[in-house]
Amino acid sequence: MTNSTILVSGGAGFIGSNFITYYLEENPTAKIINLDKLTYAGKLSNLIEVENNKNYSFVKGDICDRALIEKLFNIYNFNGVIHFAAESHVDNSIEKPEAFISTNVLGTFTLLDVAKNHWMQAPNKVNEGCTNNRFLHISTDEVYGTLGETGLFTELTPYAPNSPYSASKASSDFIVRSYFHTFGMNVVTTNCSNNYGPKQHDEKLIPTIIRKAIQGENIPIYGNGKNIRDWLYVLDHCKGIDLVYKTGKAGETYNIGGKNERDNIYIANTICEVLDTVLPKQKSYKELITFVKDRPGHDFRYAIDASKIQKELDWKANENFESGIKKTINWYLKKYIKA
Ligand SMILES: NC(=O)c1ccc[n+]([C@@H]2O[C@H](COP(=O)([O-])OP(=O)(O)OC[C@H]3O[C@@H](n4cnc5c(N)ncnc54)[C@H](O)[C@@H]3O)[C@@H](O)[C@H]2O)c1
Repeated sequence: MTNSTILVSGGAGFIGSNFITYYLEENPTAKIINLDKLTYAGKLSNLIEVENNKNYSFVKGDICDRALIEKLFNIYNFNGVIHFAAESHVDNSIEKPEAFISTNVLGTFTLLDVAKNHWMQAPNKVNEGCTNNRFLHISTDEVYGTLGETGLFTELTPYAPNSPYSASKASSDFIVRSYFHTFGMNVVTTNCSNNYGPKQHDEKLIPTIIRKAIQGENIPIYGNGKNIRDWLYVLDHCKGIDLVYKTGKAGETYNIGGKNERDNIYIANTICEVLDTVLPKQKSYKELITFVKDRPGHDFRYAIDASKIQKELDWKANENFESGIKKTINWYLKKYIKA
């Protein structure tokens, strides 16, 4: 699998770009073709580390464009697809849900269906040379809905998506699942918790807190700041994806989470405390924290039980939130202070 040719979708976004850089370094004989539409969320500057790597190529295009994907499969004969491309911001899915249905549902279907047609001649009949070819679908813990004060999402938790974003991701998960059960296609799905780290889009919570603080602007926190997420450092996620891609069992889903439940006000306070140390100003950055009107339908708590991937594939997160956030802040300080 290490000298295979992989189609990565959405590799100019946050997690995909971190993954491509990590994977090419860990697997020097693998080739990656990155197909990305370069929406507002995708940036080629996220891929500066690999742009001159002979094993890396970029194609600008839409995962809904069947003719383009068929053409790419014919040229490159991909051994695998690692599918990140998505509309990913919940707030945008409330304002303008249509792109979420198009990319996340129709786009996933198109990519999956072309891969199946290229790799398989009939249900449970894989073409010669395609036996190990695999489709890895990256999804989210948001498909499980929301938790109360206790409990964890396991791979057996029933789906109960609450936002147009999570509903579109849930739909795509079901389509991927159906291609295993109906066609015997070699698919795996990962459902991960909130990622943070370098290269995340400015619109997301942690880059927003850091940016607003540095600029001396109010740091907006939804509602009472008590919403809880299970924070996963992006490099730990990339290592999990690599493991599932190479060693996960076909047809299975794996939850990936950092066991780092923190509420939003804790996140904001911690970032301010680090900034107070590394970039002190006259007043603490904490004074900038401002509570704003809550997001409609805001899920209270997500938390992942990652014991399946830990036990079966020997994965574990190397960073806790307090160590990962320091690395993250260092990266954004360079970005925002240079800019
Ligand atoms: N960021 C998180 O915390 C998180 C958590 C759980 C799951 N996920 C999932 O991980 C995946 C990657 O998330 P991310 O945070 O890197 O997202 P992102 O928004 O940073 O990047 C998405 C990328 O997909 C590309 N894209 C969008 N529509 C496309 C289309 N129609 N065709 C081709 N490319 C298209 C964008 O240009 C962008 O480069 C998504 O599937 C998301 O649902 C993310």
